[in-house]
Amino acid sequence: MWGGRFAEGPSAIMREINASIPFDKALWRQDIAASKAHVAMLGAQGIVSADDSKTISEGLDKVAAEYERDGVPEDWDLEDIHMTVEARLAELIGPVAGRLHTARSRNDQVATDFRMWVRDAMDRADYGLGLVMVSLVERAGEHSGSIMPGFTHLQTAQPVTLGHHLMAYFEMFHRDRDRFAAARDRMNLCPLGSAALAGTGFPIDRDATAKELGFAFPTRNSLDAVSDRDFALDYLQAASQCAIHLSRLAEEMVLWASQPFGFIRLPDALSTGSSIMPQKKNPDAAELVRGHAGRIIGCATALQVTMKGLPLAYSKDMQDDKPPVFEAAGLLDLCLAAMAGMVADSAFNTERMREAAELGYATATDLADWLVREADVPFREAHHVTGAAVKLAESKGVALDALSLDELRKIDGRIDERVYDALSVEASVAARSSFGGTAPDQVRARVAEARKLMGMDD
Ligand code: ARG
Repeated sequence: MWGGRFAEGPSAIMREINASIPFDKALWRQDIAASKAHVAMLGAQGIVSADDSKTISEGLDKVAAEYERDGVPEDWDLEDIHMTVEARLAELIGPVAGRLHTARSRNDQVATDFRMWVRDAMDRADYGLGLVMVSLVERAGEHSGSIMPGFTHLQTAQPVTLGHHLMAYFEMFHRDRDRFAAARDRMNLCPLGSAALAGTGFPIDRDATAKELGFAFPTRNSLDAVSDRDFALDYLQAASQCAIHLSRLAEEMVLWASQPFGFIRLPDALSTGSSIMPQKKNPDAAELVRGHAGRIIGCATALQVTMKGLPLAYSKDMQDDKPPVFEAAGLLDLCLAAMAGMVADSAFNTERMREAAELGYATATDLADWLVREADVPFREAHHVTGAAVKLAESKGVALDALSLDELRKIDGRIDERVYDALSVEASVAARSSFGGTAPDQVRARVAEARKLMGMDD
């Protein structure tokens, strides 16, 4: 390829550092699709003859069939997937293959191929998120009235419903999905025809290739089109955010599956045993979802750092854009699938959750609110009175509503027997009926909306 300029071929080290074929062969489908669109356009525009266009296109089909059957060969001398495809095409159809590269460059070629690959990864993320969201909505519907402790600082705070807790994650994943969708819209412009950096003098039809490859429009600036990788960063950042959400849910599952909590039994199919302790069932899939989030964030960081100092337009550093994206996408796809399964198939121990809510003085705020509402006590004072009641209950090792009326009235004479209606965990969650609150009615309303959004009742 460099025959005219260099007396000797590249040294072995150069060959190795230069070769991207070990990883960019993953782009072969996109590369061949883009080449077919390009050569069809060259034929339609009369830039190559109709016969040559047809010969090249059929040759590309043959290359694709070979790769489908045998995989892509790795020859470092051919550097990358683009040269690999073209070299094989030349072996199959002869010198006419050389006309394929008219009016394009590997720079617009790789930018196009990679955009198409990332677009598919975004579509897979959308699908995987959909599975997790449907599982969450399904389980939230079953548990709109199941009571568990809600935490702040991981200390029991107020009772909440399990459905409400699960729907919190639905909201997060809904936003993640929006992030992928927005990134997809933003990136769906076709770089092909930007050539090396400045465009081309050949009378190409960029609208035709853009349309053929599923892009909304051609990109508007050739320098930008061949040299930015913000679309890949958008993917990695959306993937990182999604992985952070998955990781928090995974962390809760690990916690909830531990014996002191005992809130959840993870599916056997997504757990492992211990080689030495026969009683153990470890939440490995959840732990790995949590762990993989770190790697996905690392991939995003890697590409950010690669890109931050590059002058326009293309620099070879940008060849390193692919491994982090491929790695992150593989991990994210797996995490989404694992989480969908864990949400769908875990067994919630709702009795245990309810017990934990009752034993944690989670309804203390309800006692204070009752004093404010029914006895016109200022909230700060009510807070103080309630503190004394909790202290007494704690010293006796009982729940708040197990204190006798006498005991409560000794703390504050304004308390009467109606207070017991407010002290149960059921009353507590039912009272939190503000829009978006944890009351079972609210959860059912949100679940109904979510089911509609997800097309679950169609
Ligand atoms: N393998 C290269 C990459 O992925 C293709 C572009 C090469 N362009 C160039 N001018 N050397 O970035």
